[in-house]
Amino acid sequence: MPMIGNKSRGHNSTSQALRTLLILCCLLQCHSRPHSYDSKPLSEISREVSKYSDIAQQIINLAVYGKAQKRSYERLAEFTDTIGNRVSGSKNLDLAIKYMYNALRQDGLENVHLEPVKIPHWVRGEESAVMLLPRIHTLAILGLGSSVGTPPAGIEAEVIVVDSFEELKKRASEAKGKIVVYNQPFVSYGETVAYRASGASEAAKVGAVASLIRSVTPFSINSPHTGWQWYEPGVVQIPTACITIEDAQMMARMARRGQRIVVRLTMAAQTLPDVDSFNTVAEITGSEHPEQVVLLSGHLDSWDVGQGAMDDGGGVAISWEALSVIRDLGLRPKRTLRTVLWSAEEPGGVGAAQYFQQHKANISNFDLVMESDLGTFSPLGLQFTGSDKARAIMKEVMKLLAAINVTSLEEHGEGTDINMWMKAGVPGASLHTADQRYFWFHHSDGDTMSVQNPEEMNLCSAVWAVVAYVVADLEEMLPR
Ligand SMILES: *[C@@H]1O[C@H](CO)[C@@H](O)[C@H](O)[C@H]1NC(C)=O
Ligand SMILES: *[C@@H]1O[C@H](CO)[C@@H](O)[C@H](O)[C@H]1NC(C)=O
Ligand SMILES: [Zn+2]
Repeated sequence: MPMIGNKSRGHNSTSQALRTLLILCCLLQCHSRPHSYDSKPLSEISREVSKYSDIAQQIINLAVYGKAQKRSYERLAEFTDTIGNRVSGSKNLDLAIKYMYNALRQDGLENVHLEPVKIPHWVRGEESAVMLLPRIHTLAILGLGSSVGTPPAGIEAEVIVVDSFEELKKRASEAKGKIVVYNQPFVSYGETVAYRASGASEAAKVGAVASLIRSVTPFSINSPHTGWQWYEPGVVQIPTACITIEDAQMMARMARRGQRIVVRLTMAAQTLPDVDSFNTVAEITGSEHPEQVVLLSGHLDSWDVGQGAMDDGGGVAISWEALSVIRDLGLRPKRTLRTVLWSAEEPGGVGAAQYFQQHKANISNFDLVMESDLGTFSPLGLQFTGSDKARAIMKEVMKLLAAINVTSLEEHGEGTDINMWMKAGVPGASLHTADQRYFWFHHSDGDTMSVQNPEEMNLCSAVWAVVAYVVADLEEMLPR
Protein backbone atom coordinates (compact mmCIF):
# COMPACT_ATOMS: atom_id res chain seq x y z
CA MET A 1 0.00 0.00 0.00
CA PRO A 2 2.27 2.82 -1.20
CA MET A 3 -0.03 5.59 0.01
CA ILE A 4 0.52 4.63 3.64
CA GLY A 5 4.23 4.22 3.07
CA ASN A 6 4.46 7.74 1.68
CA LYS A 7 2.42 9.27 4.44
CA SER A 8 4.37 7.68 7.25
CA ARG A 9 7.76 8.38 5.68
CA GLY A 10 9.68 11.40 6.98
CA HIS A 11 8.24 11.37 10.52
CA ASN A 12 11.69 10.80 11.94
CA SER A 13 10.96 12.59 15.18
CA THR A 14 7.89 10.50 15.91
CA SER A 15 8.52 7.66 18.28
CA GLN A 16 8.29 4.13 16.99
CA ALA A 17 5.12 3.52 19.02
CA LEU A 18 3.42 6.60 17.67
CA ARG A 19 4.39 5.66 14.13
CA THR A 20 2.91 2.23 14.58
CA LEU A 21 -0.27 3.77 15.88
CA LEU A 22 -0.33 6.19 12.95
CA ILE A 23 0.04 3.37 10.47
CA LEU A 24 -2.72 1.41 12.16
CA CYS A 25 -5.01 4.43 12.05
CA CYS A 26 -4.18 4.93 8.42
CA LEU A 27 -5.05 1.32 7.67
CA LEU A 28 -8.41 1.68 9.35
CA GLN A 29 -9.01 5.12 7.84
CA CYS A 30 -8.54 3.72 4.37
CA HIS A 31 -11.97 2.16 4.59
CA SER A 32 -13.65 5.51 4.93
CA ARG A 33 -11.41 7.49 2.61
CA PRO A 34 -13.89 9.99 1.14
CA HIS A 35 -12.35 10.25 -2.32
CA SER A 36 -12.27 6.75 -3.66
CA TYR A 37 -14.88 4.39 -5.04
CA ASP A 38 -12.56 1.51 -4.19
CA SER A 39 -13.49 1.91 -0.55
CA LYS A 40 -16.97 3.46 -0.79
CA PRO A 41 -19.82 0.97 -0.31
CA LEU A 42 -21.91 0.37 -3.41
CA SER A 43 -25.08 1.52 -1.67
CA GLU A 44 -23.58 5.00 -1.33
CA ILE A 45 -22.41 5.07 -4.93
CA SER A 46 -25.81 3.83 -6.01
CA ARG A 47 -27.45 6.77 -4.21
CA GLU A 48 -25.04 9.15 -5.91
CA VAL A 49 -25.78 7.72 -9.36
CA SER A 50 -29.54 7.73 -8.83
CA LYS A 51 -29.41 11.50 -8.33
CA TYR A 52 -28.77 11.74 -12.06
CA SER A 53 -32.17 10.37 -13.02
CA ASP A 54 -33.55 13.84 -13.82
CA ILE A 55 -30.59 14.73 -15.99
CA ALA A 56 -30.77 11.35 -17.72
CA GLN A 57 -34.43 11.97 -18.46
CA GLN A 58 -33.64 15.43 -19.86
CA ILE A 59 -31.05 13.91 -22.16
CA ILE A 60 -33.47 11.20 -23.28
CA ASN A 61 -36.24 13.73 -23.83
CA LEU A 62 -34.06 15.95 -25.98
CA ALA A 63 -32.39 13.17 -27.98
CA VAL A 64 -35.36 10.84 -28.46
CA TYR A 65 -38.48 12.99 -28.28
CA GLY A 66 -37.30 16.59 -28.46
CA LYS A 67 -35.59 19.03 -30.77
CA ALA A 68 -32.48 16.89 -31.25
CA GLN A 69 -34.32 13.86 -32.55
CA LYS A 70 -33.13 12.70 -36.00
CA ARG A 71 -30.25 15.17 -35.81
CA SER A 72 -27.53 12.49 -35.74
CA TYR A 73 -29.21 10.78 -38.70
CA GLU A 74 -29.55 14.01 -40.69
CA ARG A 75 -25.96 14.98 -39.98
CA LEU A 76 -24.71 11.57 -41.03
CA ALA A 77 -26.83 11.62 -44.20
CA GLU A 78 -25.48 15.01 -45.21
CA PHE A 79 -21.93 13.91 -44.44
CA THR A 80 -22.08 10.65 -46.41
CA ASP A 81 -24.06 12.20 -49.28
CA THR A 82 -21.44 14.97 -49.53
CA ILE A 83 -18.21 13.01 -49.03
CA GLY A 84 -19.05 9.41 -49.92
CA ASN A 85 -16.67 6.69 -48.84
CA ARG A 86 -13.26 7.48 -47.37
CA VAL A 87 -10.69 4.72 -47.35
CA SER A 88 -7.37 5.12 -45.52
CA GLY A 89 -4.95 7.24 -47.52
CA SER A 90 -7.57 8.67 -49.89
CA LYS A 91 -8.39 12.28 -50.82
CA ASN A 92 -11.90 11.55 -49.58
CA LEU A 93 -10.65 10.78 -46.08
CA ASP A 94 -8.86 14.16 -46.07
CA LEU A 95 -12.12 15.80 -47.16
CA ALA A 96 -14.02 13.92 -44.47
CA ILE A 97 -11.62 15.11 -41.77
CA LYS A 98 -11.89 18.74 -42.95
CA TYR A 99 -15.67 18.39 -43.10
CA MET A 100 -15.88 17.08 -39.55
CA TYR A 101 -13.39 19.59 -38.19
CA ASN A 102 -15.52 22.44 -39.58
CA ALA A 103 -18.80 20.85 -38.54
CA LEU A 104 -17.67 20.27 -34.95
CA ARG A 105 -16.45 23.86 -34.70
CA GLN A 106 -19.65 25.25 -36.21
CA ASP A 107 -21.55 23.16 -33.70
CA GLY A 108 -19.84 25.16 -30.97
CA LEU A 109 -17.93 22.29 -29.36
CA GLU A 110 -14.71 23.09 -27.50
CA ASN A 111 -11.06 22.44 -28.22
CA VAL A 112 -11.82 21.12 -31.72
CA HIS A 113 -8.49 20.13 -33.23
CA LEU A 114 -6.65 17.60 -35.36
CA GLU A 115 -3.87 15.31 -34.10
CA PRO A 116 -1.38 14.11 -36.74
CA VAL A 117 -0.95 10.40 -37.58
CA LYS A 118 0.60 8.42 -40.46
CA ILE A 119 -1.70 6.00 -42.22
CA PRO A 120 -1.50 3.31 -44.95
CA HIS A 121 -2.32 4.12 -48.54
CA TRP A 122 -3.51 1.10 -50.48
CA VAL A 123 -5.30 1.61 -53.78
CA ARG A 124 -7.56 -0.95 -55.38
CA GLY A 125 -7.16 -0.06 -59.06
CA GLU A 126 -9.03 -1.90 -61.80
CA GLU A 127 -9.91 -5.46 -60.90
CA SER A 128 -11.88 -8.32 -62.39
CA ALA A 129 -12.21 -12.08 -62.30
CA VAL A 130 -13.67 -14.35 -64.96
CA MET A 131 -14.34 -18.05 -64.69
CA LEU A 132 -13.26 -19.47 -68.06
CA LEU A 133 -14.02 -23.15 -67.42
CA PRO A 134 -16.32 -25.03 -67.15
CA ARG A 135 -18.20 -22.02 -68.56
CA ILE A 136 -17.62 -18.30 -68.96
CA HIS A 137 -18.93 -16.44 -65.91
CA THR A 138 -17.93 -13.07 -64.47
CA LEU A 139 -17.24 -13.26 -60.75
CA ALA A 140 -18.14 -10.30 -58.54
CA ILE A 141 -14.95 -9.58 -56.56
CA LEU A 142 -13.41 -7.04 -54.24
CA GLY A 143 -9.66 -7.11 -53.75
CA LEU A 144 -8.60 -7.21 -50.09
CA GLY A 145 -6.80 -4.29 -48.47
CA SER A 146 -2.98 -4.58 -48.72
CA SER A 147 -3.19 -7.17 -51.51
CA VAL A 148 -0.56 -7.02 -54.22
CA GLY A 149 -1.78 -6.79 -57.82
CA THR A 150 -1.42 -9.33 -60.60
CA PRO A 151 0.68 -8.85 -63.74
CA PRO A 152 -1.27 -6.61 -66.20
CA ALA A 153 -2.52 -9.61 -68.18
CA GLY A 154 -3.79 -11.25 -65.00
CA ILE A 155 -3.20 -14.67 -63.52
CA GLU A 156 -4.93 -17.56 -65.25
CA ALA A 157 -4.93 -20.79 -63.31
CA GLU A 158 -6.88 -23.85 -62.30
CA VAL A 159 -8.90 -23.59 -59.10
CA ILE A 160 -8.78 -25.81 -56.02
CA VAL A 161 -11.79 -25.32 -53.71
CA VAL A 162 -11.43 -25.97 -49.97
CA ASP A 163 -13.82 -25.53 -47.05
CA SER A 164 -11.18 -24.91 -44.40
CA PHE A 165 -7.50 -24.41 -43.63
CA GLU A 166 -7.42 -28.07 -42.50
CA GLU A 167 -8.62 -29.24 -45.90
CA LEU A 168 -6.01 -27.02 -47.58
CA LYS A 169 -3.26 -28.62 -45.49
CA LYS A 170 -4.49 -32.14 -46.29
CA ARG A 171 -4.58 -31.35 -50.01
CA ALA A 172 -1.40 -29.24 -50.03
CA SER A 173 0.16 -31.31 -52.83
CA GLU A 174 -2.73 -30.38 -55.17
CA ALA A 175 -2.46 -26.62 -54.61
CA LYS A 176 0.81 -25.76 -56.34
CA GLY A 177 0.34 -23.30 -59.20
CA LYS A 178 -3.40 -23.03 -58.54
CA ILE A 179 -5.84 -20.42 -57.32
CA VAL A 180 -7.17 -21.44 -53.90
CA VAL A 181 -10.90 -20.76 -53.48
CA TYR A 182 -11.95 -20.81 -49.82
CA ASN A 183 -15.60 -21.76 -49.37
CA GLN A 184 -15.57 -21.64 -45.57
CA PRO A 185 -19.01 -21.48 -43.92
CA PHE A 186 -19.86 -18.37 -41.89
CA VAL A 187 -19.68 -19.29 -38.21
CA SER A 188 -19.16 -15.86 -36.63
CA TYR A 189 -17.27 -12.83 -37.80
CA GLY A 190 -14.63 -13.27 -35.13
CA GLU A 191 -13.93 -16.85 -36.17
CA THR A 192 -14.50 -16.74 -39.91
CA VAL A 193 -12.56 -13.54 -40.56
CA ALA A 194 -9.36 -15.60 -40.19
CA TYR A 195 -9.87 -16.72 -43.80
CA ARG A 196 -9.92 -13.14 -45.03
CA ALA A 197 -7.07 -12.05 -42.74
CA SER A 198 -4.58 -14.84 -43.53
CA GLY A 199 -6.05 -16.88 -46.40
CA ALA A 200 -3.53 -15.52 -48.90
CA SER A 201 -0.43 -16.44 -46.89
CA GLU A 202 -1.81 -19.89 -46.04
CA ALA A 203 -2.43 -20.49 -49.77
CA ALA A 204 1.01 -19.16 -50.71
CA LYS A 205 2.65 -21.58 -48.26
CA VAL A 206 1.35 -24.53 -50.32
CA GLY A 207 2.44 -22.96 -53.60
CA ALA A 208 -0.80 -21.29 -54.75
CA VAL A 209 -0.58 -18.30 -57.11
CA ALA A 210 -3.66 -16.40 -55.83
CA SER A 211 -6.51 -16.84 -53.38
CA LEU A 212 -10.22 -16.03 -53.61
CA ILE A 213 -12.08 -15.96 -50.35
CA ARG A 214 -15.79 -16.38 -49.77
CA SER A 215 -17.00 -13.10 -48.30
CA VAL A 216 -17.29 -13.06 -44.50
CA THR A 217 -21.03 -12.56 -44.20
CA PRO A 218 -24.05 -14.68 -43.26
CA PHE A 219 -26.18 -13.26 -46.10
CA SER A 220 -25.61 -12.32 -49.69
CA ILE A 221 -27.30 -11.04 -52.81
CA ASN A 222 -24.17 -11.80 -54.82
CA SER A 223 -22.36 -9.09 -52.88
CA PRO A 224 -18.60 -9.24 -52.30
CA HIS A 225 -17.33 -7.84 -48.95
CA THR A 226 -13.81 -6.47 -48.70
CA GLY A 227 -11.58 -5.99 -45.64
CA TRP A 228 -7.93 -5.77 -44.65
CA GLN A 229 -5.67 -8.80 -44.91
CA TRP A 230 -2.18 -9.42 -43.55
CA TYR A 231 0.72 -11.11 -45.33
CA GLU A 232 2.82 -13.29 -43.08
CA PRO A 233 6.44 -12.10 -43.05
CA GLY A 234 8.71 -14.29 -45.13
CA VAL A 235 5.86 -15.82 -47.16
CA VAL A 236 5.44 -15.04 -50.88
CA GLN A 237 2.81 -12.32 -51.35
CA ILE A 238 0.07 -13.45 -53.74
CA PRO A 239 -2.94 -11.45 -54.95
CA THR A 240 -6.12 -12.00 -52.98
CA ALA A 241 -9.75 -10.93 -53.31
CA CYS A 242 -13.09 -11.89 -51.89
CA ILE A 243 -15.82 -13.45 -53.98
CA THR A 244 -19.51 -13.90 -53.22
CA ILE A 245 -21.10 -16.73 -51.24
CA GLU A 246 -23.00 -17.67 -54.40
CA ASP A 247 -19.89 -18.02 -56.57
CA ALA A 248 -17.91 -19.82 -53.85
CA GLN A 249 -20.71 -22.36 -53.39
CA MET A 250 -21.11 -22.84 -57.14
CA MET A 251 -17.41 -23.53 -57.63
CA ALA A 252 -17.53 -25.95 -54.69
CA ARG A 253 -20.38 -27.84 -56.39
CA MET A 254 -18.51 -27.90 -59.69
CA ALA A 255 -15.36 -29.20 -58.01
CA ARG A 256 -17.33 -31.96 -56.25
CA ARG A 257 -18.63 -33.05 -59.64
CA GLY A 258 -15.03 -33.34 -60.78
CA GLN A 259 -15.28 -30.42 -63.20
CA ARG A 260 -12.11 -28.54 -64.02
CA ILE A 261 -12.43 -24.86 -63.06
CA VAL A 262 -10.17 -22.17 -64.53
CA VAL A 263 -10.25 -18.53 -63.46
CA ARG A 264 -8.45 -15.44 -64.72
CA LEU A 265 -7.87 -12.87 -61.98
CA THR A 266 -6.71 -9.33 -62.85
CA MET A 267 -5.91 -6.79 -60.13
CA ALA A 268 -4.05 -3.47 -60.37
CA ALA A 269 -3.91 -3.07 -56.57
CA GLN A 270 -0.84 -1.40 -55.08
CA THR A 271 0.45 -0.07 -51.79
CA LEU A 272 1.80 3.50 -51.92
CA PRO A 273 3.86 5.22 -49.21
CA ASP A 274 2.10 6.06 -45.94
CA VAL A 275 0.39 9.46 -45.89
CA ASP A 276 -0.26 12.16 -43.29
CA SER A 277 -3.66 12.13 -41.65
CA PHE A 278 -5.36 13.14 -38.41
CA ASN A 279 -7.50 11.93 -35.55
CA THR A 280 -10.28 14.51 -35.15
CA VAL A 281 -11.05 15.68 -31.62
CA ALA A 282 -13.80 17.77 -29.99
CA GLU A 283 -14.51 18.31 -26.31
CA ILE A 284 -16.68 19.66 -23.59
CA THR A 285 -14.06 20.69 -21.07
CA GLY A 286 -14.56 19.45 -17.53
CA SER A 287 -15.42 22.00 -14.86
CA GLU A 288 -13.44 20.50 -11.97
CA HIS A 289 -11.01 17.99 -13.43
CA PRO A 290 -10.43 19.13 -17.02
CA GLU A 291 -7.40 16.82 -17.29
CA GLN A 292 -9.53 13.74 -16.61
CA VAL A 293 -11.27 12.30 -19.64
CA VAL A 294 -14.24 10.22 -20.70
CA LEU A 295 -13.54 9.36 -24.33
CA LEU A 296 -16.30 8.65 -26.88
CA SER A 297 -15.36 7.43 -30.33
CA GLY A 298 -16.04 6.03 -33.76
CA HIS A 299 -13.82 5.84 -36.84
CA LEU A 300 -14.03 8.28 -39.70
CA ASP A 301 -12.38 6.15 -42.37
CA SER A 302 -14.37 3.48 -44.20
CA TRP A 303 -13.88 1.11 -47.10
CA ASP A 304 -13.74 2.35 -50.67
CA VAL A 305 -17.10 0.77 -51.51
CA GLY A 306 -20.53 1.75 -50.21
CA GLN A 307 -20.67 4.94 -48.17
CA GLY A 308 -19.42 3.87 -44.75
CA ALA A 309 -22.75 5.05 -43.30
CA MET A 310 -22.96 2.07 -40.95
CA ASP A 311 -19.24 1.28 -40.56
CA ASP A 312 -18.55 3.55 -38.93
CA GLY A 313 -20.58 6.64 -39.85
CA GLY A 314 -23.08 5.68 -37.14
CA GLY A 315 -20.43 5.56 -34.42
CA VAL A 316 -19.04 8.90 -35.56
CA ALA A 317 -22.49 10.50 -35.65
CA ILE A 318 -23.54 9.43 -32.15
CA SER A 319 -20.15 10.30 -30.63
CA TRP A 320 -20.65 13.83 -32.02
CA GLU A 321 -24.34 13.95 -31.14
CA ALA A 322 -23.77 12.96 -27.50
CA LEU A 323 -21.67 16.10 -26.98
CA SER A 324 -24.20 18.27 -28.84
CA VAL A 325 -27.05 17.06 -26.65
CA ILE A 326 -25.10 17.66 -23.44
CA ARG A 327 -24.07 21.12 -24.68
CA ASP A 328 -27.67 21.95 -25.72
CA LEU A 329 -28.82 21.21 -22.18
CA GLY A 330 -26.19 23.57 -20.79
CA LEU A 331 -24.51 20.73 -18.92
CA ARG A 332 -20.82 20.66 -18.12
CA PRO A 333 -19.54 17.61 -16.25
CA LYS A 334 -16.67 17.67 -13.78
CA ARG A 335 -14.41 15.80 -16.19
CA THR A 336 -13.76 16.44 -19.86
CA LEU A 337 -15.89 14.70 -22.48
CA ARG A 338 -13.70 14.03 -25.48
CA THR A 339 -15.00 12.77 -28.81
CA VAL A 340 -12.31 11.25 -31.03
CA LEU A 341 -13.02 10.34 -34.65
CA TRP A 342 -10.26 7.88 -35.48
CA SER A 343 -8.35 7.82 -38.71
CA ALA A 344 -7.51 4.52 -40.41
CA GLU A 345 -9.29 1.96 -38.23
CA GLU A 346 -9.87 -0.38 -41.17
CA PRO A 347 -6.18 -1.19 -41.76
CA GLY A 348 -6.06 -2.33 -38.10
CA GLY A 349 -6.64 0.60 -35.75
CA VAL A 350 -3.71 2.58 -37.12
CA GLY A 351 -4.82 6.07 -36.03
CA ALA A 352 -5.91 4.83 -32.61
CA ALA A 353 -2.61 3.03 -32.00
CA GLN A 354 -0.74 6.32 -32.55
CA TYR A 355 -3.20 8.15 -30.31
CA PHE A 356 -2.46 5.62 -27.57
CA GLN A 357 1.30 6.20 -27.95
CA GLN A 358 0.76 9.98 -27.94
CA HIS A 359 -1.44 9.99 -24.83
CA LYS A 360 -0.55 6.95 -22.73
CA ALA A 361 1.63 9.15 -20.50
CA ASN A 362 -1.68 10.45 -19.13
CA ILE A 363 -3.31 7.05 -18.80
CA SER A 364 -4.16 7.61 -15.14
CA ASN A 365 -6.47 10.45 -16.27
CA PHE A 366 -8.51 8.24 -18.62
CA ASP A 367 -11.71 7.43 -16.75
CA LEU A 368 -13.62 5.48 -19.40
CA VAL A 369 -12.99 4.80 -23.11
CA MET A 370 -16.04 4.19 -25.31
CA GLU A 371 -16.35 3.09 -28.93
CA SER A 372 -19.29 2.42 -31.21
CA ASP A 373 -18.21 0.36 -34.22
CA LEU A 374 -20.73 -2.47 -34.44
CA GLY A 375 -23.66 -0.54 -35.82
CA THR A 376 -26.11 1.99 -34.45
CA PHE A 377 -29.23 -0.16 -34.66
CA SER A 378 -31.71 -0.43 -31.80
CA PRO A 379 -29.53 -0.31 -28.68
CA LEU A 380 -29.54 -3.32 -26.31
CA GLY A 381 -26.91 -2.25 -23.81
CA LEU A 382 -23.21 -1.79 -23.30
CA GLN A 383 -20.42 -4.32 -23.42
CA PHE A 384 -18.05 -3.45 -20.62
CA THR A 385 -14.53 -4.32 -19.55
CA GLY A 386 -13.41 -3.25 -16.10
CA SER A 387 -13.00 -4.33 -12.50
CA ASP A 388 -15.91 -5.81 -10.53
CA LYS A 389 -16.37 -2.56 -8.66
CA ALA A 390 -16.35 -0.51 -11.87
CA ARG A 391 -18.88 -2.96 -13.36
CA ALA A 392 -21.13 -2.59 -10.33
CA ILE A 393 -21.04 1.19 -10.73
CA MET A 394 -21.73 0.98 -14.47
CA LYS A 395 -24.74 -1.24 -13.71
CA GLU A 396 -26.11 1.57 -11.59
CA VAL A 397 -25.49 4.04 -14.43
CA MET A 398 -27.35 1.79 -16.87
CA LYS A 399 -30.43 1.89 -14.61
CA LEU A 400 -30.76 5.54 -15.65
CA LEU A 401 -31.68 4.25 -19.13
CA ALA A 402 -34.66 2.21 -17.96
CA ALA A 403 -37.04 4.64 -19.70
CA ILE A 404 -35.68 3.48 -23.07
CA ASN A 405 -35.14 -0.13 -22.01
CA VAL A 406 -31.37 -0.15 -22.43
CA THR A 407 -30.18 -1.33 -19.04
CA SER A 408 -28.10 -4.36 -19.86
CA LEU A 409 -24.38 -4.33 -19.06
CA GLU A 410 -22.62 -7.20 -20.75
CA GLU A 411 -19.12 -8.64 -20.70
CA HIS A 412 -16.25 -7.77 -23.03
CA GLY A 413 -16.06 -4.19 -24.13
CA GLU A 414 -14.60 -4.29 -27.59
CA GLY A 415 -13.37 -2.07 -30.36
CA THR A 416 -10.15 -2.08 -32.32
CA ASP A 417 -9.60 1.55 -31.38
CA ILE A 418 -10.02 1.25 -27.59
CA ASN A 419 -8.53 -2.21 -26.98
CA MET A 420 -5.10 -0.88 -26.10
CA TRP A 421 -6.53 1.27 -23.31
CA MET A 422 -8.56 -1.60 -21.91
CA LYS A 423 -5.54 -3.94 -22.01
CA ALA A 424 -3.67 -1.29 -20.04
CA GLY A 425 -6.41 -1.30 -17.38
CA VAL A 426 -8.70 1.57 -18.39
CA PRO A 427 -12.41 0.67 -18.16
CA GLY A 428 -13.92 0.40 -21.65
CA ALA A 429 -17.43 0.24 -23.09
CA SER A 430 -18.75 -0.55 -26.53
CA LEU A 431 -22.28 -0.06 -27.77
CA HIS A 432 -24.25 -3.26 -28.32
CA THR A 433 -27.19 -2.90 -30.68
CA ALA A 434 -29.58 -5.27 -32.46
CA ASP A 435 -26.85 -5.95 -34.97
CA GLN A 436 -28.09 -9.19 -36.55
CA ARG A 437 -27.85 -7.57 -39.99
CA TYR A 438 -24.57 -5.74 -39.47
CA PHE A 439 -22.46 -8.19 -41.44
CA TRP A 440 -24.94 -8.26 -44.30
CA PHE A 441 -23.77 -4.76 -45.22
CA HIS A 442 -20.29 -4.64 -43.67
CA HIS A 443 -17.45 -3.61 -46.05
CA SER A 444 -19.72 -3.86 -49.10
CA ASP A 445 -21.50 -1.60 -51.56
CA GLY A 446 -24.57 -2.13 -49.38
CA ASP A 447 -23.21 0.05 -46.55
CA THR A 448 -25.30 3.17 -47.28
CA MET A 449 -27.64 5.52 -45.42
CA SER A 450 -30.50 3.17 -46.25
CA VAL A 451 -29.21 0.83 -43.52
CA GLN A 452 -29.56 3.58 -40.89
CA ASN A 453 -32.73 4.41 -39.03
CA PRO A 454 -33.23 7.81 -37.40
CA GLU A 455 -35.23 6.55 -34.38
CA GLU A 456 -32.63 3.90 -33.63
CA MET A 457 -29.87 6.49 -33.88
CA ASN A 458 -31.77 8.77 -31.45
CA LEU A 459 -31.75 5.98 -28.89
CA CYS A 460 -28.06 5.22 -29.43
CA SER A 461 -27.23 8.92 -29.01
CA ALA A 462 -29.19 9.01 -25.75
CA VAL A 463 -27.35 5.96 -24.36
CA TRP A 464 -24.00 7.42 -25.35
CA ALA A 465 -24.79 10.84 -23.86
CA VAL A 466 -26.22 9.58 -20.55
CA VAL A 467 -23.38 7.15 -19.88
CA ALA A 468 -20.63 9.58 -20.88
CA TYR A 469 -22.11 12.50 -18.96
CA VAL A 470 -22.84 10.65 -15.75
CA VAL A 471 -19.48 8.86 -15.61
CA ALA A 472 -17.71 12.16 -16.31
CA ASP A 473 -19.62 13.93 -13.54
CA LEU A 474 -19.42 11.38 -10.71
CA GLU A 475 -17.43 12.31 -7.63
CA GLU A 476 -14.68 9.85 -8.50
CA MET A 477 -13.22 8.15 -11.54
CA LEU A 478 -14.20 4.52 -12.12
CA PRO A 479 -11.92 2.23 -10.12
CA ARG A 480 -9.42 0.24 -12.18
C1 LIG B 1 -1.35 15.21 -20.27
O1 LIG B 1 -2.23 15.97 -19.50
C2 LIG B 1 -1.81 17.30 -19.26
C3 LIG B 1 -2.82 17.91 -18.31
O2 LIG B 1 -4.09 17.87 -18.86
C4 LIG B 1 -1.70 18.03 -20.56
O3 LIG B 1 -1.24 19.35 -20.34
C5 LIG B 1 -0.73 17.30 -21.47
O4 LIG B 1 -0.70 17.91 -22.73
C6 LIG B 1 -1.16 15.85 -21.62
N1 LIG B 1 -0.16 15.12 -22.36
C7 LIG B 1 -0.48 14.27 -23.34
C8 LIG B 1 0.67 13.57 -23.96
O5 LIG B 1 -1.62 14.07 -23.70
C1 LIG C 1 -39.77 0.17 -23.34
O1 LIG C 1 -40.51 -0.96 -22.99
C2 LIG C 1 -41.85 -0.67 -22.63
C3 LIG C 1 -42.48 -1.93 -22.10
O2 LIG C 1 -42.17 -3.02 -22.94
C4 LIG C 1 -42.58 -0.08 -23.83
O3 LIG C 1 -43.89 0.28 -23.48
C5 LIG C 1 -41.84 1.18 -24.31
O4 LIG C 1 -42.40 1.67 -25.48
C6 LIG C 1 -40.36 0.87 -24.55
N1 LIG C 1 -39.71 2.12 -24.81
C7 LIG C 1 -38.83 2.29 -25.79
C8 LIG C 1 -38.28 3.67 -25.95
O5 LIG C 1 -38.51 1.40 -26.52
ZN1 LIG D 1 -15.61 -0.25 -38.36
